[in-house]
Amino acid sequence: MGRGPADAGQIDVRLATASDLALLTALSLRFFDYLKATVADAFWEGAEPRADLARADFEAAFAKGDLVLIASLAGAPVGYLYGRVEPAYVRESPIPSMGYISHCFVRDEARGRGVASALAQAAERWFQDRGIEHIELRYSLANKAAAAVWTKLGYAPQRLTCRKSLRRTGNP
Ligand SMILES: CC(C)(COP(=O)(O)OP(=O)(O)OC[C@H]1O[C@@H](n2cnc3c(N)ncnc32)[C@H](O)[C@@H]1OP(=O)(O)O)[C@@H](O)C(=O)NCCC(=O)NCCS
Repeated sequence: MGRGPADAGQIDVRLATASDLALLTALSLRFFDYLKATVADAFWEGAEPRADLARADFEAAFAKGDLVLIASLAGAPVGYLYGRVEPAYVRESPIPSMGYISHCFVRDEARGRGVASALAQAAERWFQDRGIEHIELRYSLANKAAAAVWTKLGYAPQRLTCRKSLRRTGNP
């Protein structure tokens, strides 16, 4: 899955197993740190990473048969993708379910080499093999890299999440 002479090595994508729990937890905590540092959002203010919660999420994902992929570059694990099958967004739709990509993270030093593209391609095949015809994902508007990458990979914005803050101003 390499992308030519500029690549430092071969990209391999595989399904994760329970023996990857420590690795997945470590990668997802880095993802957490990245989002906390870059996404200007009230819900990230004061949020602290929790290894126990991250690990429990992956344990639950394995128990449900969700999609957990690990990508390696030149033999070293550098990224992961977590996705699942969800009910269609319109209950009455003749389309019963859709794919949802919840996390996609690539370590800093491995970015820009096609790792996320390889993860997305593998996820798309996994969903297609299950008869899924549409995949959704979300990213914050502040995450310019995510916007650029997902657009390049063919994910077009469809709906917008709107939020109004009800916080009281500081005046007594
Ligand atoms: C977003 C992220 C997963 C992309 O991973 P990556 O392995 O660097 O992506 P790829 O190398 O496969 O790039 C895919 C395409 O997007 C482009 N791209 C990658 N990073 C980019 C950036 N920061 N700005 C603009 N375009 C970018 C690439 O050039 C490539 O396009 P091409 O195929 O036309 O060359 C990675 O930057 C990351 O982990 N970011 C932090 C976590 C995050 O924000 N995840 C997304 C929210 S779910």
